[in-house]
Amino acid sequence: MIDLRSDTVTRPTPEMRMAIADAAVGDAVIDIDPTTDRLERLTADILGKEASLFMPSGSMTNQIAIRIHCDRGTEFICESNCHIYNYEQAAFAQLSGVVAQTVLGHDGIMQVDQLRHLIRPENDHMVRTRLVCLENTHNRAGGRIQPPGTVEAICQWAHDHGLKTHLDGARLWNAAVASGQSEETLAKPFDSVSVCFSKGLGAPVGSVLAGSKEFIVEAKRVRKLFGGAMRQSGMIAAGALYALMHHRERLIEDHESAKIIGDTVRKSDCLQVLGGCVETNIVAIAIDESWGTAAQFVKSLHSQGVLCFAIGPQSIRMVTHLDVSRSQISDVCDALRRVTSSSPLALATQLA
Ligand SMILES: Cc1ncc(COP(=O)(O)O)c(C=O)c1O
Repeated sequence: MIDLRSDTVTRPTPEMRMAIADAAVGDAVIDIDPTTDRLERLTADILGKEASLFMPSGSMTNQIAIRIHCDRGTEFICESNCHIYNYEQAAFAQLSGVVAQTVLGHDGIMQVDQLRHLIRPENDHMVRTRLVCLENTHNRAGGRIQPPGTVEAICQWAHDHGLKTHLDGARLWNAAVASGQSEETLAKPFDSVSVCFSKGLGAPVGSVLAGSKEFIVEAKRVRKLFGGAMRQSGMIAAGALYALMHHRERLIEDHESAKIIGDTVRKSDCLQVLGGCVETNIVAIAIDESWGTAAQFVKSLHSQGVLCFAIGPQSIRMVTHLDVSRSQISDVCDALRRVTSSSPLALATQLA
């Protein structure tokens, strides 16, 4: 099976397993775990932030950032299709008593003009607006990169109005490699940044939250509250550290693979690349109703040895990653051609 459901399905390489086996460890809750400490210093450096903190997941780094930036009974602004709002069980409400005000962007990208009137006036009826969250790359929008000028305009506006800014950069590594901008440049406009090692970088576990020294002191406290303080975390930080040092540059190969799939999709009469282009490692594909449904398409691809997810009644997603070779990508394209050449609806009509 060729598994394109997510870039989270990768398994550690033999070299990464060696790095994990050799990791120096200590108790990170009592004092220090040397490998985790190295990872946190290096990540903070790459992101151009004062400090950072290792956590088990991107959901935890996002939710801890929201918890710190927003008091109970306040709100944050985010894009309607972002991960924080749709795929984290509204943990901001469950765990922190915070609400979200959503704004529909174009292909996941909000413009500052859409936000200008959204800050609530100070009166007893209103929740208080505290934070703006962006996602780069935008997962549901097919790995779309946030244009740097748009990001700067939003963050500048937010700061001018006393709001904080948080970046869900689960795939910031992909945005950096694809745009040729450093992670530091892309992270600069934000007060806090979450990055994941368990996505395109191919580590088994882990995310980091980065920001100012004071912010990270607070994040450490909330991490303990949320049950995310880990002891010999060097065992997993070593995989993340290895990924950070060895797997960033190669993301360009995943982007090229995704573009090859995108080109095949464009040649089909019944498929369309959602958003019109493939910028990183996610290809979101619309399936014409004349072919059938997304569920039927996923099933047909499965029978051809390719796994992917339906992301809507008429849309699917394919994600490229380091466990898929270029020759497997050409098998995926062949499978797409075979599946699109025989629709279940056409078959039903012939049989009727
Ligand atoms: C954009 C984005 N943010 C956050 C997350 C959450 O990461 P985790 O699965 O580590 O909680 C994901 C997971 O896929 C994601 O795609």
